[in-house]
This record gives sequence, structure tokens and C-alpha cells, in this order.
Amino acid sequence: MVLLKWLLCQLVLFTTLSHAFTDYLLKKCAQSGFCHRNRIYSQNIVKTHHSYYKLDPESIVHDPFQNILHATIIKTVPRLDGDDISVQFPFSLSFLQDYSVRFTIAEKERTVANDSSFLVSTQRYNETWLHAFDEKFPDKVNTTSSFPEPYFLGQEHTANSLWSKLTSFLSLSNSTQDTVYLQNGNVSLEILTEPFQLKIYWKNTLKLIVNEQNFLNIEHRRTKEENFAHVLPEESTFNMFKDDFLYSKLDTLPLGPESIALDFSFIESTNVYGIPEHPTSLRLMDTSQGEPYRLFNVDVFEYNIGTTQPMYGSIPFMFSSSSTSVFWVNAADTWVDIKYDTRKNKTMTHWISENGVVDVVVSLGPDIPTIIDTFTDLTGRPFLPPMSSIGYHQCRWNYNDEMDVLNVDSQMDVHRFPYDFIWLDLEYTNDKKYFTWKPNSFPNPKRLLTKLNKLGRNLVVLIDPHLKKDYEISDTVINENVAVKDHNGNDYVGHCWPGNSIWIDTMSKYGQKIWKSFFEKFMDFPHDLTNLFVWNDMNEPSIFDGPETTAPKDLIHDSHIEERSIHNLYGLSVHEATYDAVKSVYSSSDKRPFLLTRAFFAGSQRTAATWTGDNVATWEYLKISIPMVLSNNVAGMPFIGADIAGFAEDPTPELIARWYQAGLWYPFFRAHAHIDTKRREPYLFDDPLKSIVRDAIQLRYFLLPTLYTMFYKSSTTGYPIMNPMFIQHPEFKDLYDIDNQFYWGDSGLLVKPITEPDQLETEMIFPPGIFYEFASLISFVNDGTYLMKKNIMAPLDTIPLFIEGGHIISMKDKYRRSSKLMRNDPYILVIAPDAKGSAVGDLYVDDGETFGYQKGEYLRTQFILEDGHILKNIPSHTPDNLVGTEDSILRNTNIEKIIVAKSELQHDIKLKDAIMVKQDGEERSLSTELSYEDDNKIIITNPMIDITESWELTF
Ligand code: NOJ
Repeated sequence: MVLLKWLLCQLVLFTTLSHAFTDYLLKKCAQSGFCHRNRIYSQNIVKTHHSYYKLDPESIVHDPFQNILHATIIKTVPRLDGDDISVQFPFSLSFLQDYSVRFTIAEKERTVANDSSFLVSTQRYNETWLHAFDEKFPDKVNTTSSFPEPYFLGQEHTANSLWSKLTSFLSLSNSTQDTVYLQNGNVSLEILTEPFQLKIYWKNTLKLIVNEQNFLNIEHRRTKEENFAHVLPEESTFNMFKDDFLYSKLDTLPLGPESIALDFSFIESTNVYGIPEHPTSLRLMDTSQGEPYRLFNVDVFEYNIGTTQPMYGSIPFMFSSSSTSVFWVNAADTWVDIKYDTRKNKTMTHWISENGVVDVVVSLGPDIPTIIDTFTDLTGRPFLPPMSSIGYHQCRWNYNDEMDVLNVDSQMDVHRFPYDFIWLDLEYTNDKKYFTWKPNSFPNPKRLLTKLNKLGRNLVVLIDPHLKKDYEISDTVINENVAVKDHNGNDYVGHCWPGNSIWIDTMSKYGQKIWKSFFEKFMDFPHDLTNLFVWNDMNEPSIFDGPETTAPKDLIHDSHIEERSIHNLYGLSVHEATYDAVKSVYSSSDKRPFLLTRAFFAGSQRTAATWTGDNVATWEYLKISIPMVLSNNVAGMPFIGADIAGFAEDPTPELIARWYQAGLWYPFFRAHAHIDTKRREPYLFDDPLKSIVRDAIQLRYFLLPTLYTMFYKSSTTGYPIMNPMFIQHPEFKDLYDIDNQFYWGDSGLLVKPITEPDQLETEMIFPPGIFYEFASLISFVNDGTYLMKKNIMAPLDTIPLFIEGGHIISMKDKYRRSSKLMRNDPYILVIAPDAKGSAVGDLYVDDGETFGYQKGEYLRTQFILEDGHILKNIPSHTPDNLVGTEDSILRNTNIEKIIVAKSELQHDIKLKDAIMVKQDGEERSLSTELSYEDDNKIIITNPMIDITESWELTF
């Protein structure tokens, strides 16, 4: 056993050092018992058209207090002797939010079959929703082991009025195929009882059919001995009670087969998106001829591109271009098959999870932003990050010591590269023991933090959930009984960076408390020193000698929950516990934490940013980073980036240039490099590379006011930051599979980064409208009603970047060493009018670092251009503590410059003889002397107006 572990460990370490991920470490569907069984079942059911599941119409009741419809689904297993086996599955359904329907299917027998001979609970795990849903949802706080009860929510309804509305639509017919009709606003549905099926409508148009293909399959409780009598004719018995995959053979599978599966047909669409994280296209691939997409958090060093293999994070949320989504609330190992049927204009999907309950939220709406809004209302909004954390991050495995860090810090300044965060990877620790510093290299962390703090800079340190055996921290975890346990109930020991390690059990409340106590001690710095943040890596969890590079599925959490049930939740539990700890440490300064996690699940966006893991410094990885970042953005977790310019291997200068030019648009903008690579801090480059990289980083900083406004919007509606074109222009079907060109939020900035070597021009797609080339403001017009393709020149120092007419961009334009130092700088407005001479732009400003905005300490305003020459400012919210003083929220609110782009459609936009400002009922004229005009733009300098006040400027 020890030898086997050692061999496996060597194998993984070897693969970690060689280049290309060893795919064979991960199961294919045919090697995964439950995936294979369900695929076989579906293939056979398609032929036999049998259904073994019906909803008993007599069982339908409603709970008037909770407003839930309850019923029983019955599975009948036929037997030759006629003594059929009947299994009951409690079913519940409710309208969860205004646009959502939630239904659950559990298993009755399990709830009474709790056998003390099992260390794990024999009940199906039904609490994934407690972790995934936002805490505003009832019962999330202080819930013990409640059944996942859906609730009616919605501002305009009280529960009772909604139920009476609902009952008036509820009718049961007496036909053999009984149908129950329910309606809530624009959402209505039919429950068909035999076979069980749901048809869900938006404004009376059918959008989704649940179990249309009869793939519903719940492997009910049975012993190995009685199994033969419980298997349906279409079922396979492959690996029901064992796992014969390479390193998974030790899995004890204590409860035998438990899988759940169901099909969903998206009507009127052959485009589906979501279910990150995978290194594939934004529009998900048809998997009928290959492997299903797999959601199972694993460590995939140098993952293979274009495969449906699982990665570090999982969000089981998928939506179609017809604005319908499925959120499969299950954190077990999950596979998803997708089949597009262009003839019938629909998409069939088949979801298969290893265990747990069927818990599904279906959302519908008028458009895709509403679907994402509804999803992030349910699972929580993306956190509003500190302003500094949307600046540039300089990371490397590793900055070796304090001198090294401070040298990088000062060299960045010498060479005029703005930056906000410097990172310490693994090696800052004393012998890979987290919550310690390597004594000779980092003798005085307080001194280091203080020096970085002078320019408003921050330090991030890596803290992983594996803890080296035999030191104070791991001893505490063992003594307090909060280590993850093996299937015998002993502390589980596996291999990770420090060698023999144990894992903190953050699934347990007490485990979270102990974890927090470690941060309290580790981050015990003076109260004004709040610039230390944390990075949770390897939290899938990555286990070098574990099956499929991760945890054995029969580990035990919180004394009764099997790893199998919560695998994809573990990473979330680690980073949430870390977030809570850091937030509490900084509570006296009210500072918002910044946190990076590698593993994630639905809900992770509430507290953490993420990145696409261990990529490679090649063009393919640059290219795939864009659909990967877009996929997370449409799945409610927009704060994501990819390692620039590739984690493993050494990038060429051309690749570095292009990667920075692409990476500046990632919501999370960080350079990172493997320990074996050559140093590549940007000041080490020779010109022209150095200035190309500087320009890219600088452009990010100039655009921070716009980017921060987008993060704010995202934190209130979930709106994507790196935004697929089809979300802005759903009317063009040809945009549904475009994932190499994107908008930045709804700012109007349209970008197509260059992702090929030797490419000096590229073809971009433009919807109808006016587009202004960002740097020159030279415009062109697509005056048709279709998409237009146009070749754009892109020499190495140029990013294909446009502003779509109709938008106003807020910027700052002075080089400062960090974002904090930009707070005192005035604003620049860049106005890109549409054909009618109109444009709009939002601006959100707060102190950039505290939770004060939650108490109203922020500014929101809108700039509006009318008729090509009237610019208005309409603040909708201003903070009390306004301007001027050192501690004011908005340090400098002046607009220093207004740049109005001119297109050939706007010849009449010419600077008038007088520039007038109307404010507080008074009118004054501005000197035109400082203003400027050429063929492409008007520049009004020093207009003496301010973002906090209402005014009207005529020019
Ligand atoms: C794996 C992470 O993905 C990588 O970014 C990090 O540098 C190494 N772990 C070392 O901590």
C-alpha cells in the first residue's frame, strides 16, 4: 500500500514536470461506472421507448404554508413472476423566483434506512443548495439537515396571494395521461404524469421539456445480493459495487449504485452555453460522438485543449440562446451529454450525477441577461472587488525573499509599469507549512507589508487546504478533530506539496472556526496594515496520490458526509471559510477582502476570483483562454483570468506581447510563471516588447473607471464583464458561436485580441452602427442591417479595439504607480455618438476598498449626449462625504477633458463659438481657447464641471 502510494506520487510528480497533461489519469465515461450505465440506459431507452417512472396523480398535494406542490414519482421494476418492485420518490415543485421553477426528486426508502453500520449517512445528500444559494434564501442560515424545500419568492407576491393564483390554475384532468397546469406570471408549466414529464413555457411558448427522452433514472437503494432483481431490462450493471479504474480501485462504494440522471430538451435553440470549466469553445460542443462534458474538480496541469475533460472548477448551469436555463444543483461527479438537432431546432441534454438528489432550477426570461441576473440572484452576486484588485497583478512561482519582492516592486516603478499586487507562491513558507514564513527569506513580513503599503500596494500569499503532517497547525486540526477522514473514520493522509498531509474539513462549521483562528494569528499585524491577501490553490482538492489526482470518493466530511456527494463543493467551502476569516481579521478597517481560488462551484462568485489554472506558454492556450473566460462570465462568475503569458514553458516575445494585449481585457489581470521558467517581469524585456507591454498595462489602468463601473453592475445583476457578442446583439444568429471577439461589459468597447503568430491583420465582425477605432477615433459606418466583416490592421503594437457608437467611456489618463495613487486624478470622458448623435455612459465611484458602499457611500451617475452637442450629467446617487478632504470617498471629481469623436455622419458636430454650461439654474460660458478640433474629434479641456453635480454642457 505504501509502495503503491509512493509509485503513484512519483507518477504524478513526473507528469507535473513533463509537459502535457496525462489524460489517462482521468476516467472516460466508459470507465466511470455510473456514467457508462446511464449512457447505456439512454441508448436502450431510445430503442424500447419504455418509461418506468410515473407521477401518481392521487399523491399530489400542496403545502399552503410553504406553497409547494408535493407528489410521489413511482418507479416500477418489472419482474417475471409479476411481483413488480415499486420504489417511491418524493417530488416537489415550486416557483422559486419570479422567473424560476424549482423541482426536486428524492428517494423515500433512504430516509428510513439509516444503518449504524455505515459511517456515512445513507440518506441521499440534499444540501448542495444550502452552499450554492445566496444566504438571503430562507433557511440557509442555521439549517440542520432540512430537506431542500423550495420557496416562492418575488417582490410583488406574498406567499399566500401567489398560492391562490397558483391554485386557480391548477387542474387535474381525469384522462389516463393526467396533466397538471400551473402558472406564475409569464412562466407556466404542465406536469404530465405518465410517463413523468414537465413542459415549461415562457409566455405560452414551449421552452423546455424535462424527461422528454425518458432518461430519468434513479438508482434506488439495494444490496449487492438483491441487485439482480432491481435492475431494469435497459440497465447495465457495470461497476455498480466496485470501481475498476486505475487508481480508483480502492473506492469502497459503501452505498453501491446511487446515480441520478435526467434529460432536458431546450426548444427553439441549437446553442447552449455554460457548465464551466472546460477548455473548449463558448458554444458548447455536441458530445454525441464523443465524451460528455464532465464536472468534477480536479488538478489538470497543462490541460489538453478542446476536450470535455473536467478541470479545477464546476458550475452546473447551462442556458440556451432561447433564454432558458437549467441549474443542476448537485455537487457530485457529473457528466453532461449534448446533442443538437438542427432539423427540429432543439438541443437535447442528458445530465448524470453519481449520487445526491435531483434538485433543479429552471429559469426563463425575455433575454439572456435576465437569465444570468436570475441565476446570480439565486446563487449570489459576484462580490465587488477592491479597486486595486482589478489593476495588474505580478506573480511568479516564486519571488524568493523580501529583497526579491522589493526589487521587483521598485523596478516596476523605475520602468514605469503600474501595478497593484505582488504575489508569493508556495516557497515563502517555512518548509511548505502554511501559516508560516520561511525565516531567513521573510524575516519581517510586517516590514515588507509596510513598505508595499506606502504606494498602496498589496501582497498575496498562497494558503492551501493540505497541511503538512506534524506541525502546530496540522496538530491542531487533528486534535480538534477537524481533518477530513478516510472511509474508516481515521484522519486521511495523502500526498501533496509538503509530502504527507492532512486536509482541513471546511465542510464542518467547527472546521471553519479552527481555520479562521489560524488566520487570526497569521495576520496579526497592526490595524492599519490591511494589504495582505490570500490565494487558495489546490483546493479541488489536489492529491498527488489520490485517484484522478484528487480525493478518494469515500472520504468523510463533517462526520457523516461522503466526499462523493460534495466533491465539487469542497473548494468553495475552503475559499468561503478563508474569505470569512480575512473579512473578520480586517473588520476594524471594514476592508473588502480580495481572494483567489482555483476550485469553484456555483456560488463561488460571492467571495472569490479565479483563474484558468496551469496553462502553457503557447498560442493555443492564449486562444482558448478567451472562450474559457467568457464561459465563466456567462455563468455568474466573471472575475476570472488566465496566467499571462502562459504558466509553463517560456513564451516568445511575440507571444508575450499578444498575451498582454489580450489579458488586459480579462477581468482578473495577472502575470504568473512556473518555477522552472525564466524570469519575465515586464521590465526585463527589451524594447519594443517592453513598451508594448507597458502600453497594455497602462491602457488597463486608464480604463479602470469604466471597468470598476462594470464590476459594480456585475455585483448587482451578474452582468458579464468579458461579454460575448451575442449577449449585446442577440438578433444576429451568426454571433452565437463567436468567441474570439467580445465586448467589455456594456461599455461599447469591442475587442478582438490577436491570438496567432505572425498575424498583422485580422477580420472583425461589426453589427450595424458606427465604430470608432479606439486610439485614433477614426470611424467607419455599417449602415446596413446585417453584420459586416472588415479587415483590421494589427501590427505588433496594436490591439484591434473599437468603441461602438452610442457609448461614453470614463477614463483617467495619467501614469501612476498604483490604482490607489490614481484616486486623486480627474476624469476624461470619451464620447462616441451614434448616427443620431446620441450616447450614454454610466459611472460608479466609491472609496475602492471598504464596505462603505453598502451604506450608501458611493456615487452613481449617467452621462447622456443628445443631438450631438448637448452633454448632460445626471447623478442618481451621491455619497454624503463628498469631495476634497483626504478621507473623502471621492478624492477628485473633476472632469478634465471631454473628447467627442466625430463620424462622417456628424459633420454638423463642430465646436461652437461659445461652449455653455447650465448648472444650478445659471448659465456660463467656457473659454474655447483651450479646446481643440480636427476631423475626427473635438476636445474640450478644463470645462470646470464635476461628476457629482447635474449640469448641461452645450458645445
Ligand atoms: C498550482 C497552481 O495552479 C500554480 O499557479 C502554482 O504556481 C503552483 N500550484 C504552486 O503553488
